[in-house]
Amino acid sequence: MRLSVSLSVRLSARREEDPVKELFGKLADGTEIHNWPLENGGTRMNVLSYGGIVRSLEIPDRNGQYANVSLGFDRIEPYVDSSPYFGALIGRFGNRIAKGAFTLDGEPYALSVDDGENSLHGGADGFDRRVWDVEPFTEGTDVGLRLSYTSADGEMGYPGTLRAQVTYTLTAEGDWRIDYEATTDKATVVNLTSHVYWNLAGAGSGTIEGHELSIAASRFTPTDTGLIPTGELAPVEGTPFDFRTAKPIGRDLRTGHPQLLAAKGYDHNWVLDKGITAEPEHAATLHDPVSGRTLRIATNEPGLQFYSGNFLDGTLVGGGGGTFRQGDALCLETQHYPDSPNHPSFPSTVLRPGETYRTTTIHTFHA
Ligand code: BGC
Repeated sequence: MRLSVSLSVRLSARREEDPVKELFGKLADGTEIHNWPLENGGTRMNVLSYGGIVRSLEIPDRNGQYANVSLGFDRIEPYVDSSPYFGALIGRFGNRIAKGAFTLDGEPYALSVDDGENSLHGGADGFDRRVWDVEPFTEGTDVGLRLSYTSADGEMGYPGTLRAQVTYTLTAEGDWRIDYEATTDKATVVNLTSHVYWNLAGAGSGTIEGHELSIAASRFTPTDTGLIPTGELAPVEGTPFDFRTAKPIGRDLRTGHPQLLAAKGYDHNWVLDKGITAEPEHAATLHDPVSGRTLRIATNEPGLQFYSGNFLDGTLVGGGGGTFRQGDALCLETQHYPDSPNHPSFPSTVLRPGETYRTTTIHTFHA
């Protein structure tokens, strides 16, 4: 009710300062995909209606020099044909569900299997490949976009009609805030996240091994060779997974730890010490000593997937002309733990009719 009232007010009172869309390209069936430029507090973004994709995110370095720090393309085709989720919204379920199968309330469900024998990031046609409705807004000193997508009952094998709304807000301080919301008409599982590939020195500028990362987590979830959590919450202490104090990402990358060998690098979920919190709390800090750019991430989610760009193989050319090779970017995906539906001991990802799924992640930039 409140939503429909505010929507109609916004439509009739479109403000001059609201973001304005541009045509970006067309899908094979002729569907127009738009690009939405956003700018506030010194941060500039371009967002697509396709996949809610952050096509670029520009921030200054310590000398005020801007660079795009999020990997992306300048045409729609590579997003459709070959994107490893660059900048995309991920749903219905971030990361893997073992064998694309789970049971809920005694009912077995078979999901779209798109990663070996497992289901990854919502299946073959996840939220990253859907066209979202986009509504721009300006509220006080905030500027942003409300993206909505309704996923039909049974889509990619998931039960229930899932109504998802994701709000991207750029604040007057230049922070990028993501608010995720979803409701369902049948019991289901949901785990939404964002798949930006960060390189704080600039997309296409080379390796992120010199970036310093800290993660506020004393444990992580080790995986099997298919990158499915074993169920154990293992201490990071004394392992390459210890990022409690900031260290360069490359420091322990070649130590031959069996978990690093299996994943070709870091591709794991960290169990944030703060757990699930009512408000977003600090999760991780990423710093590039060369440019001076720093990203801080706060969330109310209990987990963080740190993926060190292991599968980037030098075959993709970005919007700025640079090529992306292994370790040329990293993802920090706030989430519930992978494969939660098959691990009753993990925090639950079940959403039931009448409940609203709500999570928030805030990205803060400094130089
Ligand atoms: C996963 C990786 C996967 C990548 C897709 C990450 O979130 O953890 O295993 O390859 O997404 O590009």
